[in-house]
Amino acid sequence: MAIIALANLKGGVGKSTLAVNVAGVLAPSVAVIDADPQATATAWAEAGNLPFPVIESPLTGDNVKAWIAAALAEAEGRKFLVIDLPPMLGDATAAALAICDLAVVPVSPSGADLRATNRAVDLIGQARAQRGTGKPYALLVPSKVDRRTAAGAEIEAILHDYGEPVGPGISQRIAHADAFSAGQWIGDYAKGSAGHAEIKALASVIKRLAGKI
Ligand SMILES: Nc1ncnc2c1ncn2[C@@H]1O[C@H](COP(=O)(O)OP(=O)(O)OP(=O)(O)O)[C@@H](O)[C@H]1O
Ligand SMILES: [Mg+2]
Repeated sequence: MAIIALANLKGGVGKSTLAVNVAGVLAPSVAVIDADPQATATAWAEAGNLPFPVIESPLTGDNVKAWIAAALAEAEGRKFLVIDLPPMLGDATAAALAICDLAVVPVSPSGADLRATNRAVDLIGQARAQRGTGKPYALLVPSKVDRRTAAGAEIEAILHDYGEPVGPGISQRIAHADAFSAGQWIGDYAKGSAGHAEIKALASVIKRLAGKI
């Protein structure tokens, strides 16, 4: 069993989009824990069109132990658990980094995002030091990439400087926003599309990294 957390302290970088779509590839032996009080992944699942469960599980107040126990209970009997985190440093992010095998950090190409990425990579390093196991592994993923822009063309090189693995990028595509509106993951909404192919490529890297347990 492998636990994958989608983490970045910056909002709107594609955490929920990647959580739901990567889970679509990993289905059926996967559940998504929606740890964000904004409940984006939960709303995505509302129409009942996703091939895996999304469990609304915000972590607020002092229920850290109960939250971890509930997450691990959901992981029981499945190959993968995907945790979608809120865009802030808080108990949920700390708890997820304490239990996950792999932290996936989507980064969209802008200066502000890169600053938040520094902090996310620091947090992952702190979690590794505390756990003393080398975990969580990290994967930085160029997200919402428009390669026509200078920042979009350069993002992979910039991310490599963090010294962590860099995943295959996910381009900015209208189909991703439309798939959310349809309550579907991209493999059902636009099977065989370029967006679907990018998500499959990312999921296979995530599987490989998360499998190094
Ligand atoms: N690759 C993409 N192409 C086009 N639109 C995208 C892509 N990824 C995400 N989006 C859109 O960007 C917005 C933010 O995405 P998403 O909710 O996944 O980010 P997030 O990091 O989870 O945000 P938050 O920090 O608020 O939880 C949404 O409207 C989503 O549809
Ligand atoms: Mg989100």
